[in-house]
Amino acid sequence: MKVLVIGAGAREHAIIDSLLADASVTSVIAAPGNAGMAAVVETRPIDVNDPEAVGALAADLTADLVVIGPEVPLVAGAADAVRSRGIACFGPSAEAAQLEGSKAFAKQVMAEADVPTAMSYVCSSVEQVEDALGQFGSPYVVKDDGLAAGKGVVVTSDRDAAVAHARECLAKGSDARVVIEEFLDGPEVSLFAITDGVTVLPLQPAQDFKRAGDGDSGPNTGGMGAYSPLPWAPSGLVADITERVLQPMVDAMRRRGTPFSGLLYAGLAMTSRGVRVIEFNARFGDPETQVVLANLRTPLGQVLLAAAQGKLADLPPLTWEPGFAVTVVVASEGYPASPRTGDAITGLADAADVAGVKVFHAGTTIRDDGAVASAGGRVLSVTAHGESLAQARERAYVAVDLISLEGSHHRRDIAEQAAADSVGG
Ligand code: AMP
Ligand code: GLY
Repeated sequence: MKVLVIGAGAREHAIIDSLLADASVTSVIAAPGNAGMAAVVETRPIDVNDPEAVGALAADLTADLVVIGPEVPLVAGAADAVRSRGIACFGPSAEAAQLEGSKAFAKQVMAEADVPTAMSYVCSSVEQVEDALGQFGSPYVVKDDGLAAGKGVVVTSDRDAAVAHARECLAKGSDARVVIEEFLDGPEVSLFAITDGVTVLPLQPAQDFKRAGDGDSGPNTGGMGAYSPLPWAPSGLVADITERVLQPMVDAMRRRGTPFSGLLYAGLAMTSRGVRVIEFNARFGDPETQVVLANLRTPLGQVLLAAAQGKLADLPPLTWEPGFAVTVVVASEGYPASPRTGDAITGLADAADVAGVKVFHAGTTIRDDGAVASAGGRVLSVTAHGESLAQARERAYVAVDLISLEGSHHRRDIAEQAAADSVGG
């Protein structure tokens, strides 16, 4: 089959890497792609946020399957535009993608499905915000209702900062809303499930490192690293979350007449009172996908096609490589506030030669002088597999240290705690 992958990040590079290892996939095209993807597949320029352009490209290429990576095209209706042309698409409809597009909508469906999440108020005025903040107390959690590319959430013990963020969100328009939530304590887990709207196939859990600096210091980012699976997770964790969170959400969306098919991403907090949902995303997470797919043995193309065709129930159970994967994000100077771009990157081939390592590209491009150069905030996602978490970390950091990009930064503590704590992991 011929697969069109929409997106330009390390997540899409990792998806393509897995698709190329699937014997049933005869060709892959990336749109728009990046320098890393261009080295392995054909790329096409496209405005990913124009659903009709995505649909037209899929038809033009006579693609058998379209995989949509990022949330913005999904919320805009790219999957609908592809399906309306009779082409199979991995990714939810615009209506179903509202699970990510509107936090208030997600809360409503969670309430219907009896899925455990933080208590919350949806507010449309500063007075309501003040009331809600008073109800929950510090630390305050204030979330923009809509998509905000990771910048919508403020967690703070400073009440003035909480109100200021809410004001900023409410100033976006007369129908703007903010969600004020109870603070959730405890480690976070990202659990992805592939679903066709009925059957739910959970993947292995991962942990993401969202803050820019070591020890969870600095501003929130799109994600600076990840590892999977979680040596510290109780053995029933995935089954429990599937039963209490993922399947009920998929069932509720189907009952509403807006079935969710594609990837349902649950961001969860393991609190002292049990698992609580922090958020849902309607797509693969980045950088968690890089580590989850590094361990997946089942050919990916067949799974995504089965989901797109409503045939997941026919698939045999997924199989996994033993061991662990770690990914470390190399970010450009100034990321996340104001990333510097256009600098040459060297050492990529040496890094990729390290045993167990794959270097996935995010913000990269080919400069006029032929050099691979930075073109975004998150530049590379250096991913390693190992028999133990310690070995996967070691390999990832050996590779990271072989790469040079002026001014770049990365975290040194990805999976450090988990590797130190795990027995044999
Ligand atoms: P979100 O975009 O909803 O995933 O939020 C981004 C990050 O903010 C999460 O990964 C958490 O680290 C933090 N966060 C969000 N909601 C809460 C909450 N209710 N309690 C504590 N931290 C939260
Ligand atoms: N890693 C967080 C996200 O993909 O939203």
